[in-house]
Amino acid sequence: MDFKVADLALADFGRREIQLAEHEMPGLMAIRREYAEARPLTGAKIMGSLHMTIQTAVLIETLVALGADVRWVSCNIFSTQDHAAAAVVVGPEGTVDAPKGVPVFAWKGETLEEYWWCTEQALTWPGGGGPNMILDDGGDATLLVHKGAEYEKAGAVPSASEEDAEEWKIILDLLHRTVGPEGRWTAVAKEIKGVTEETTTGVHRLYEMFKSGSLLFPAINVNDSVTKSKFDNKYGCRHSVIDGLNRATDVLIGGKVAVICGYGDVGKGCADALRGQGARVIVTEIDPICALQAAMDGFQVTTLEDVVGIADIFVTTTGNFDIITADHMSRMKHNAIVSNIGHFDNEIDMAGLARIPGIVKTEIKPQVHTWTFPDGHSIIVLAEGRLMNLGCATGHPSFVMSNSFTNQVIAQIELFTKTEQYPIGVYVLPKHLDEKVARLHLDALGVKLTTLTKAQAEYIGVAPEGPYKPDHYRY
Ligand code: NAI
Repeated sequence: MDFKVADLALADFGRREIQLAEHEMPGLMAIRREYAEARPLTGAKIMGSLHMTIQTAVLIETLVALGADVRWVSCNIFSTQDHAAAAVVVGPEGTVDAPKGVPVFAWKGETLEEYWWCTEQALTWPGGGGPNMILDDGGDATLLVHKGAEYEKAGAVPSASEEDAEEWKIILDLLHRTVGPEGRWTAVAKEIKGVTEETTTGVHRLYEMFKSGSLLFPAINVNDSVTKSKFDNKYGCRHSVIDGLNRATDVLIGGKVAVICGYGDVGKGCADALRGQGARVIVTEIDPICALQAAMDGFQVTTLEDVVGIADIFVTTTGNFDIITADHMSRMKHNAIVSNIGHFDNEIDMAGLARIPGIVKTEIKPQVHTWTFPDGHSIIVLAEGRLMNLGCATGHPSFVMSNSFTNQVIAQIELFTKTEQYPIGVYVLPKHLDEKVARLHLDALGVKLTTLTKAQAEYIGVAPEGPYKPDHYRY
């Protein structure tokens, strides 16, 4: 088996944590039981690009239990948990000397070159060919296949220009080496029945591709299942934003001034968490509805410019770029903490920071750096501007990821087994499946649901067994 991880000797530790996680992931375990005989993913060749954590290990082994042949990478250079990666490679039945699990290409602290090399490896099946399904988080695997096919059609890969971002130059270099007259990526794209996308940023890319007519296969937007974005993005970040801050810096949060940029699902979770720790939380927003929500939730809402010099902790949650600029950072208090929990690292202008003449970067420990300005004051940047809950801590806990990943598995089954029902487009799972995911998590929390009477169901115009809300309901 081909694979590349940091250290297979970590597999036992990983396996013990996977066993604990399985107990906390009732949705995934219920799906394993439900489909144990039918194995609906038999024949599926799934390439996954999603943070290689313990929770993801339970997802991967669920896909395998349902019959799939899987290859995996992380979707971020800092988010791999090396013991999880090792345990997945070794597999529940293998040993370090004779691994029997799933090929994983991921380790904590990849370079960007290594990251894209890993992505290419996971998209390449032994003996040739590629996957017939993608499970993506942020859309990088989907992007590589699409760009490769696009340049094969055009007959050439463009040359990188000086102004291009470092990462784009690396992608172009990879494509220069792999795009060929034989149409490697075109062939890969043709085999792919569909992609299921995990996060807001990846979903945004998919809708853009669909709008421009460049999307090559159907996609299920897992993010916008209610049991994903209203749980993982919100309650997951409510947990892991504090974990990231604590493990990175261990500053007392109570009494500090924290600025949360963006008050979408992630921002709501982060603002709630920091308030829970006793911080005075200030929110920035561009959307009047979210700004009004933040105000009604009791937060001061203002612009970053107004508070950049008084805040102690900054967290970007927008999925947008250039939220905190180098100029903002130069005006911050001494040892202000600057972090991002959005998908990509362009929310904070790290390149601009590095270009400030005379600035000095000092590593406190991996993924925690001070940047000292020529006037002597410093700021603390977490995870080099990449998502801090996975870079500095271990991301969301198992229970919330069970909701997200149960949606992922159901979406994979949908696209793989009912391909003809999904012409090229971007879809969300039907509401009865969203409700099913929630239902699978109630018992573990001791939740007792009220059952509608037939008359009550008729009165509010729903079936007693659901769905209970129209598609436009917002929760
Ligand atoms: P969302 O769309 O619900 O929220 C983003 C908010 O930012 C919106 O309300 C938008 O109006 C606001 N915004 C946009 N530009 C802004 C600006 N210049 N200044 C202030 N506010 C601005 O998106 P969601 O679901 O909250 O996701 C945000 C990001 O977090 C995405 O990149 C997503 O992929 C990522 N994500 C990260 C997770 C993690 O574990 N680190 C988990 C889930 C999502």
